[in-house]
Amino acid sequence: MQPRRFSFLLSVFLVLGALALAEPEWTASVNRAQTAGTPTSTGTPASPPPDSDKTYLATLEKQIAGRENKPAEEVFRNIQLFKGQPALRVLRVMEKAFLPGLGVSCTHCHVPDAWEKDDKEAKKTARTMWNLQIGFNTQIKEQVGRGVINCYTCHRGSTKPALVPSNPSKEAR
Ligand code: HEC
Ligand code: HEC
Repeated sequence: MQPRRFSFLLSVFLVLGALALAEPEWTASVNRAQTAGTPTSTGTPASPPPDSDKTYLATLEKQIAGRENKPAEEVFRNIQLFKGQPALRVLRVMEKAFLPGLGVSCTHCHVPDAWEKDDKEAKKTARTMWNLQIGFNTQIKEQVGRGVINCYTCHRGSTKPALVPSNPSKEAR
């Protein structure tokens, strides 16, 4: 468990340049347990199987094969946040930051195969959040001098950000 947790955190770090290692392990476990998919009465997650997310990613990776390092805006159709970044990085941010950070599937923000469309409110909110995060991190750097935040810092694997430390079932309802 420890090595897996570490490598998960490490990949979030690699993608965002941001790491929440200071977070106490117990808080993370509580929140993970609380938010890892909404269990139904049969015990299966209500969200689509993660397999479809993997399939979407694999298909997209094939589609951009040979162009992974080209500027994202040349490879994809509606890039506002990741201009000038390697195309593959867009997919890695989706996979390593947005999915685990919010505990959602690709379809929370996208209609599959219409990835460029801004038809879901959550996708537009995610853009706002990304820019907020950059602002926070700039201020933290200037005024505190150490540390960073990312999507997980507030969201802890849920679309509703954490508000109270204990009894997470009541948080943000
Ligand atoms: C929390 C919301 C969110 C989730 C979840 C999410 N995305 Fe995105 N996605 C975005 C945003 C925001 C952008 C726009 C980035 C920009 O403006 O540079 C985007 C852009 C994209 C693009 C570029 C489309 C284009 O042509 O402009 C692709 C491809 C994509 N996402 C695939 C995925 C896949 C695959 C998943 C699941 C593994 C996923 N996304 C999960 C928010 C999300
Ligand atoms: C400083 C805390 C904070 C950070 C960091 C943060 N968020 Fe949020 N986020 C919020 C708050 C507050 C809301 C509004 C929650 C509500 O509706 O009650 C929210 C809502 C959202 C929603 C809408 C939720 C829904 O139901 O679809 C999305 C999508 C989202 N955030 C994505 C992100 C992404 C992606 C990141 C990282 C780039 C991020 N957030 C980072 C605080 C944060």
